[in-house]
Amino acid sequence: MSPRRILVTSALPYANGHLHIGHMVEHIQTDIWARFQRLRGNRCIAMCADDTHGTATMIRARQEGRREEDILTEMNAAHQRDLQAFDVAYDHYSSTHTETNRELCHEIWAAIRKADLVAEREVTQLYDPVEGTFLADRFVKGTCPRCGSPDQYGDNCDNCGATYTPADLIDPVSALSGATPEPRTAQHLFIQISKLQEWLETWTQEEGNLQEEVANYLKGAFLGEPLWDWDISRPAPYFGFEIPDAPGNYWYVWFDAPIGYIATTKEWCAEHGEDFDSWWRSDDVEIRHFIGKDIIYFHCLFWPAMVKTAGFTVPDRVQIHGFLTVNGEKMSKSKGTFIRASTYAEHLDAQYLRYYYASKLTDTLADLDLVIDDFVAKVNSDLVGKVVNLASRTAKFAKASGLSATYPEDGGLFADAAKEGEAIAADYESCNYRRAMQRIMALADRANEYVEEQQPWALKKQEGKEQQLQDVCTVALNLFRQIVVYLTPVLPRLSEKVGALLNTPIEDWAEAQTPLTGTSVAKFKHLLTRVDTDELAKIIEESKEEAPASVDALASTDDDAALKAEPLAEECTFDDFTKVDLRVARVLKAEHVEGAKKLLKLTLGLGGDETRTVFAGIKAAYEPEALEGRLVVCVANLAPRKMKFGLSEGMVVAAGPGGSDIFVLSPDDGAVPGQRVH
Ligand code: 2FM
Ligand code: ZN
Repeated sequence: MSPRRILVTSALPYANGHLHIGHMVEHIQTDIWARFQRLRGNRCIAMCADDTHGTATMIRARQEGRREEDILTEMNAAHQRDLQAFDVAYDHYSSTHTETNRELCHEIWAAIRKADLVAEREVTQLYDPVEGTFLADRFVKGTCPRCGSPDQYGDNCDNCGATYTPADLIDPVSALSGATPEPRTAQHLFIQISKLQEWLETWTQEEGNLQEEVANYLKGAFLGEPLWDWDISRPAPYFGFEIPDAPGNYWYVWFDAPIGYIATTKEWCAEHGEDFDSWWRSDDVEIRHFIGKDIIYFHCLFWPAMVKTAGFTVPDRVQIHGFLTVNGEKMSKSKGTFIRASTYAEHLDAQYLRYYYASKLTDTLADLDLVIDDFVAKVNSDLVGKVVNLASRTAKFAKASGLSATYPEDGGLFADAAKEGEAIAADYESCNYRRAMQRIMALADRANEYVEEQQPWALKKQEGKEQQLQDVCTVALNLFRQIVVYLTPVLPRLSEKVGALLNTPIEDWAEAQTPLTGTSVAKFKHLLTRVDTDELAKIIEESKEEAPASVDALASTDDDAALKAEPLAEECTFDDFTKVDLRVARVLKAEHVEGAKKLLKLTLGLGGDETRTVFAGIKAAYEPEALEGRLVVCVANLAPRKMKFGLSEGMVVAAGPGGSDIFVLSPDDGAVPGQRVH
């Protein structure tokens, strides 16, 4: 069979945020798959780039008083450094802000126009008069029109799940400037993808391009009705590419971002003398995108429709994974589990995380939970205790003799493990890395039993047992090497070291089929050490301090950024101020609210019998137990508001942009409940 030609991509990371361990799930998943394909003898190239355009980059540049390009250069270097630290090796890592990408956008746009897929109509959007820009949905906040929950984004309510447009919010404010946005109307361009509906039905449902649950989701959520037109233009100011036949308008970032997959390949082709058409205009190539479950419809509806229309290679597979949780929860800045890739890599071996993720990743959309204690236990017991231990207990005895000239009798161990190779390969191929790791660890268990039974350390002490010792070590080291061949896609660094130890680099999956004989054995050097839990503790501690800027650039931690993100409100009179009755209160009870994602229910004591029940959107930042007994400041005379979960009779005063970045204010020692705050 001739080798397959495969092109893989990971979703392009946004340029305005650092990579964190959540991003690494996907990069590691992609990298393992690409390395596996190469080890099997296939031609596989991996492409990635920064996703640079859109409002977020523009706003960050404004806030920091820098050019967008300078931010992009800095972030691109940081991303590439982080990926390298995790042994994630893209053949090319570029950016969507390149001339190559612009040209391809022009080309694809021309094809879409030619296919008569473009419509034009007016769109009314909220406009921030202070920042002078239209506001993307995520940049408008306000009260949910359905359940009255405050501080909700412009597209949907975290509390009750309602979806709406930003204009529906009650008391909307611009998250950029705090100003009240005003509706403004502009012409927008739309791609009528319903014209490709039939083709998309086939592509999503009948060709095995998607996981079954994804195909079903698309059918249920979108394909049952005519697909709506996709709004792909944004009026100036917008950081992106200007649309050639609609001056003053820019392609929405989601138009040019996936074209970055093609542009990155094109640059790589130019640098390596490769034929671009053989990758992106060919039936003789498999294109596979790895993505997270939040961006399904861009990749499974819009993107195939675009490439199909423009005559580029249509993807064979969009492989979708779930999100990362840590200790069963969303990554949290306050708990130190929102961990930057660079922080992790400064303290711990990236191979641990590669292995841990591999041991959890399947071909489903289920979330992947990084349980810190389990991480330590698994790495120590599997990688150090089972795998590396095979070599550390035998290599030193084989150093003088090398491996036996013929492979000794081993009771069928090597042959059985060789047979297992195809099942392991099938698991890698289908992205069921967890099952592959389970199979490999079962082989390691058997190999360890062999070493226990044969006791090479005892043979070493006995005279006349030199040949037996050499044979036992030959078997153990071969079983070890076979396991390392199978682990090579996950642990390339370990694989390289084992190649050096046994003087034969591991370059092909088939090497697990034939034992090594007669080779010399180098001096044993440590291959992997146990997880240093002090270092792990440092990572968590440092991550608490870092609280990195969030994707929407609203959560910058430095002092200037907070003020810029929310400038001072209009002047008010002293009388205005005294209308608000702020009181010291004690949290008597703090409870989770069933079904509410953001809220905690607080019972506040204001002294005497005076209490208030308050629903506060602080769940992402506080455990209820941490609040009970604590003094806080509450707005005691706020008109009660009916919410989905009950009546809220006030507010607890807190600072911060929201989410897990929220800080409840407390009075200094000595204050007592009921005291007024002046
Ligand atoms: O969701 C994201 O992180 C996007 N930056 C992914 C873009 S993938 C591709 F289309 F460019
Ligand atoms: Zn709501």
